[in-house]
Amino acid sequence: MSKKSEKTVKISLAFLIFLSNFFLYRCAQEPTGGNQQQQEQEQQQQEQENQQQQQQQFIPTYSKDVKPIIDGKCISCHSPNGTAQFAPLTNYQEIVNGTAKGPSCSGTQNKNYVVKGNADMSLLYLKITTPPCGSKMPPGGSLSQDEIETIKKWIQNGAPESGT
Ligand code: HEC
Repeated sequence: MSKKSEKTVKISLAFLIFLSNFFLYRCAQEPTGGNQQQQEQEQQQQEQENQQQQQQQFIPTYSKDVKPIIDGKCISCHSPNGTAQFAPLTNYQEIVNGTAKGPSCSGTQNKNYVVKGNADMSLLYLKITTPPCGSKMPPGGSLSQDEIETIKKWIQNGAPESGT
């Protein structure tokens, strides 16, 4: 081999080594970059879970959360001058101790308006979701999903009257 071509081979070899090292180095770096992104994603997920947990820990009370819904959407009928005056819902006692007495519901199995800790057995909750008797409440409409969830959570957590 001539001196010149020997030199060319050496230079190309050196270049090859440089190239392969360069890529090796890049590959070694890659996971670090990926990890950072992953860490950020995990952090975001953690924050979302924390928020969800906080929402789950929130326990509605009658005075603060349930009364405003019932006063706004139900007592126009469920009070002494309304069309459902036989089933008043104007205060805490009437609601948690109420039992079915209307013409449509007096025969139902789920007589208690509120079974503390069990929304699916509570007539108050059933009437706003899947009524076992009579019509869905409020008649001709529906509570919002949020309002329904609030009432459900309230019953599931023992239907407290007010916070401590
Ligand atoms: C427009 C009038 C009207 C509104 C508003 C209304 N209701 Fe009623 N409700 C009635 C009537 C009439 C009955 C009896 C017929 C029936 O059960 O479908 C009744 C029955 C019920 C019963 C069964 C009572 C029993 O003792 O038999 C429950 C529980 C009830 N409603 C809950 C609610 C809730 C909760 C709301 C609000 C989200 C509401 N109602 C809004 C008219 C109304």
